[in-house]
Order: sequence, then C-alpha cells, then structure tokens
Amino acid sequence: MAHYRQVGEVPPKRHTQHRDPQGRLYYEELMGEEGFSSDSSLLYHRGVPSAISSAEVWELPDQTRVPNHPLKPRHLKLHDLVTGTDAVLDRRLVLGNADVRISYVTTGTDASPLYRNAIGDECVYVESGSGTVETVFGVLAYRAGDYVVIPRATTHRWVPAEASQLYPIEANSHVAPPRRYLSRYGQLLEHAPYCERDLHGPTAVHLLDGPDRTDVEVLVKHRVAGSIVGTRYTYATHPFDVVGWDGCLYPYTFNIDDYMPITGKIHQPPPVHQVFEGHNFVICNFLPRKVDYHELAVPLPYYHSNVDSDEVMFYVGGDYEARKGSGIGLGSISLHPGGHAHGPQPSAIEASLGAEYFEESAVMVDTFAPLELGEGGLAVEDPAYAWTWASSPR
Ligand SMILES: [Fe+2]
Repeated sequence: MAHYRQVGEVPPKRHTQHRDPQGRLYYEELMGEEGFSSDSSLLYHRGVPSAISSAEVWELPDQTRVPNHPLKPRHLKLHDLVTGTDAVLDRRLVLGNADVRISYVTTGTDASPLYRNAIGDECVYVESGSGTVETVFGVLAYRAGDYVVIPRATTHRWVPAEASQLYPIEANSHVAPPRRYLSRYGQLLEHAPYCERDLHGPTAVHLLDGPDRTDVEVLVKHRVAGSIVGTRYTYATHPFDVVGWDGCLYPYTFNIDDYMPITGKIHQPPPVHQVFEGHNFVICNFLPRKVDYHELAVPLPYYHSNVDSDEVMFYVGGDYEARKGSGIGLGSISLHPGGHAHGPQPSAIEASLGAEYFEESAVMVDTFAPLELGEGGLAVEDPAYAWTWASSPR
C-alpha cells in the first residue's frame, strides 16, 4: 500500500521524543517490509512492544495437504463445510501450496483471539456477514463483499457483529494491487478498475479495554523448517496501546461493488478481472457486468488451457451462466488445474448468444504452482464433477 496515512498523535519529526500528558516517552516501533526497503509505518506505543513473558505452542488446525493426483478438476461445496465459529481458530484448510493457502470458516459473534500471521499477508474475502477487525493500527469495519487485506505480522482480532462466512487467502508474501495498474510511484492509474477512494483504512486508533491491560495473549502463525506452526505469546501490555501511527503500511478493506469491470465488444481476456497479486498467485473477481456487444459475439468464455496456473473459482453471487448443468452453485469452488483445458458447459454456449448482462459474482485465485487439497476441501468434494463436460448435452 503506497498511500500515506496518519491516524492519532504522531510527533512532527520522526524518531524524536513523543510524550504522553504526564511526560512519559512513548515507544516508537518501525514496522517495515522487505528489510525496511519497502512500505513501512511508525507506531507509537504506551508499552514496550517486545515485552513478552511467555511463549508456548499453539496447535493449529489440521494443515495436511494431499496432492491432486490423479490430476482432476474438482468441485468443492463450501456451504456444506461445517466449521467451528471462531474466525481465526476454526479455519478449515481447503486448498494450498507453498505460496498461498485458502481456508473457510463460518463465524459466530464471539471475538477471535488476538492473532497475527507472521508468514505473509492475509486477504480475507467476506462472503457474508459484517463486523469489525480490530488491529494495532485501529479498527476496520467489514461487510459482505469486502476483501480485508491485513499485512504480515499485524496483530488483530475479528469481532463479528453477525455470523460471517469468511474465505481467508493466506499468502506467503505480500498482497497488493497489480503492478500494471500502478504508476512509477505507486498511484493507481486511470485504467485501473478501482482507485484509492475505494480502499478503506483505519480512521482512529483503538485502545482495547484500556491501555493498562496486562498479560495479554497473542497467537502467532509462523513457519519452522517449511511447516506452518503456531506460538502463543503472553505480552506484558496490550498490543492495541498505539496512540498514533503514520506511514504506507496498514490494513484496509476493498469491496467488490467498487470494482468497475472492464468490458468490450468481444470477450475480454481473464486478466481484466484481476484485483490483487501476491508472489506466485493472483486474485481476480468476476462481477455483474454488461457483456460483449459485437453482433456475432459469444459472451461466454472460450475453452482455455491456463498452462502455468491452477484456477480456483469461488462462486459467491448471482447465476453462473457458464457452468449451468455442472452442479456448480453458490458456495461452490471449482479447481481447474494447469494442464487441463476447461470452459463452459457445452449447452450453455449457444444459450448465451444475445445475452447483454451477466449477473454473476466469483472470486478467483490463480496459482502458479500446483494446489493441493486440504482436509476441509476433501470433506466437501463432489466426486462426479470431473466428468460433467463429457456427460453434458450439447
Ligand atoms: Fe478458467
């Protein structure tokens, strides 16, 4: 996030004395990416941000992954996936590889524990529900259709106001707008399908339960020897004791309704739907839009073999024209692995001719390395899906 933001009290000059009304110094913390050679922020704490008094093992939910072998397209029915109700503790792993992991959870209304992901950024798509995400930078409101982008190592917790269906995309890298939409200095360009006005960062710092709360537990997800593990820290003071911060590194939300689809006279290529990118993967969204207006246009996509990518579509709204007859419906995931050509149900192509508008919403993750199946994905697989093109009427 290259856009400067200031929230709360900061001193006029960085790295200079900043004191509370009683004259005590605040503790300055520089939080920066890529060895302090990329985006960063300066945060001012009442307590010492490194003061831990214990570290114990936090047992993560099952992170096992099974290779997609024999290679098959897959249909996973996430709405059939039963989860616990905690936004952090009860995520069930659906798909993953060494670059990114996708999970799913349906929350209740209890707040999650304080948590941070020390492996990479999280981009959590909110399929339904609303509430807040409280962070060391302040509070973000969330609602259905939001991507909640939380930078690596940002301490936060989820506070759902209502039951929320969350689709966390956990990267091993940073998640950012596509490079081609950014100016040399990071401004979103005119041809981008969204702009800075659509990105919503924290507006006020947040002092959770008062600044003096002590012995606060924070769960940290991290890596050891290539495995994903967890540690439970106890902090001497509450991490949400920040009185002010400024910089270009902070969490934010972006709602799919603010994405302006790029359309054309004939079918537009899949990258026009891209919204974010991470290392070795991209995130795209297919949204309600006017479709191709050439008099002989075929509005549905052609069959395509995305030879370097595994494609994961999560169908989140409307009526997905291209897949009529395949069993795909709301809450479905389709995994179309690299090396396997895929496209519409044959009968849907002719039926689409003359269409002017598609009322469909889907969130897509394309990975550049093969995805493996998590235990949550395997639990809700439709085993008949791979054969549905062959059995579909023309
Ligand atoms: Fe595709």
